[in-house]
Amino acid sequence: MKQIAIIDKNQRSIQKLADELKSRGYSVQNYQDEQEALGRLGDDHPDLIISELALRNHTGPEILRELKKLDPAVPIIIISEHSNTQDAIDSMREGAYDYFAKPLDTQKTLAAIEKALARTPSLDAADPATTPDQPFVVGGNRLVGRSPEMMEIYKRIGQVAASDAAVLIQGESGTGKELVAQAIHENSGRRTGPFLAVNCAAIPETLLESELFGYERGAFTGAVARKIGKFEQANGGTIFLDEIGDMSLAIQAKVLRVLQEQTFERVGGRETITVNTRVVAATNKSLVECMKTGSFRVDLFYRLKVVSIFLPGLRERGDDVMLLANYFLQKYNYQLVKNVRGLSSEAAELVQQYDWPGNVRELENNVQTAVLLNKSGILSCEDFPIYLERKERGPESSHGPAGHGLADSFRKVMESQFGTLAVDFRGALYDRLVQDFERALISLALEKVGGNQVRASKLLGISRNTLRNRIERFGQGAERAR
Ligand SMILES: Nc1ncnc2c1ncn2[C@@H]1O[C@H](COP(=O)(O)OP(=O)(O)O)[C@@H](O)[C@H]1O
Ligand SMILES: [Mg+2]
Repeated sequence: MKQIAIIDKNQRSIQKLADELKSRGYSVQNYQDEQEALGRLGDDHPDLIISELALRNHTGPEILRELKKLDPAVPIIIISEHSNTQDAIDSMREGAYDYFAKPLDTQKTLAAIEKALARTPSLDAADPATTPDQPFVVGGNRLVGRSPEMMEIYKRIGQVAASDAAVLIQGESGTGKELVAQAIHENSGRRTGPFLAVNCAAIPETLLESELFGYERGAFTGAVARKIGKFEQANGGTIFLDEIGDMSLAIQAKVLRVLQEQTFERVGGRETITVNTRVVAATNKSLVECMKTGSFRVDLFYRLKVVSIFLPGLRERGDDVMLLANYFLQKYNYQLVKNVRGLSSEAAELVQQYDWPGNVRELENNVQTAVLLNKSGILSCEDFPIYLERKERGPESSHGPAGHGLADSFRKVMESQFGTLAVDFRGALYDRLVQDFERALISLALEKVGGNQVRASKLLGISRNTLRNRIERFGQGAERAR
């Protein structure tokens, strides 16, 4: 009979779980507090330990370390009174098997318990040498959200932080990929080292290589002195490669080599530089689609994908929307020296029902504007840009056919980059832009239908041949760029 130890002073809150475990044939042993548990567990030899986090004389990480000392192979499931970002990250980092917040979801907890018990202890036993001893700095509670979806993200951060493995963070724009990258850095042994972010989509290709790898004096006209790139500057720390789906194939090859050998050469240089820089990459594109069109290297994808985190859209995070809205309200009250007390019930409903295509970033911008404009001390619908935009469009047209509004949006995007584009694509501006537009449209359509070409061609209203032809052409374009 498998033995399960439960350490929790609030026995009532875990009664249901304990009963369920007993009815499934487990022997359950209760311990009132850590004194009692640490005194007796050595003799009791449980197969699994469930422990509360807020104990009398130990912090969460401390109790985990003490319990691990008894027998590092015994899985420990941590339970906390409330869901808390940092607790979840800390627990997983200190080697907890899983983390749950009260009120407990009995079924989910049971599933985790049975999974933990089913594994082969010798294979999965936490290696004490890789379990970090030092407590780590809490990077401020900047990741807001307590939805089950986000709790999974915190656990994942805790699991991956300690290693040096490259991490790929996927998710729509504005879902918090950069914040998660920072959290990984701050919860890793590299936290005293630098964290440098490079947005691969914002830097023209020719400059990106020097930005990342640096150059030697005389590498090209204008290179009057050696420049140290971001990979070297981030030595001992973390480099965050944002929008890696926009990186050219040539640079991808160089990044792959850094991941494999930690080495590269500066542009125009012969000396091989060795760095100890952890790579965290992010993308809002489907890299699978990019691989199909040939614009992303398959080997790099598999290298990055080993450790990946997928951030859900804001609309999938339930009550987090209001939590975030209130968090940003406080933030901008402070920054803009305002004293807004809250949201009216209509405004709260608007915020909860809107589907936030721009995710947390869009919500933050909306609350910022609302706080800025507000005079009454309570945010009303009219204070929110999304409300005004919706009104202008009319309720029906919000998802209706695209009209002039879309052309205006394209114009805005192009306008902001027109100077660079005109230089980069000199003499072929029209063709290149139209082609990029087509490419974006096709890759988006393919993504929406899970890569199915028949459905994508229907969606786009073009023949399957035309679609194939375009995919091939884009693939070849990418080939030439290599
Ligand atoms: N969970 C979160 N809690 C608090 N702020 C968040 C959260 N997620 C995103 N943000 C904020 O939203 C904005 C966009 O986040 P960012 O990490 O840049 O998104 P992405 O890189 O996915 O586009 C930033 O200002 C960030 O601070
Ligand atoms: Mg970003």
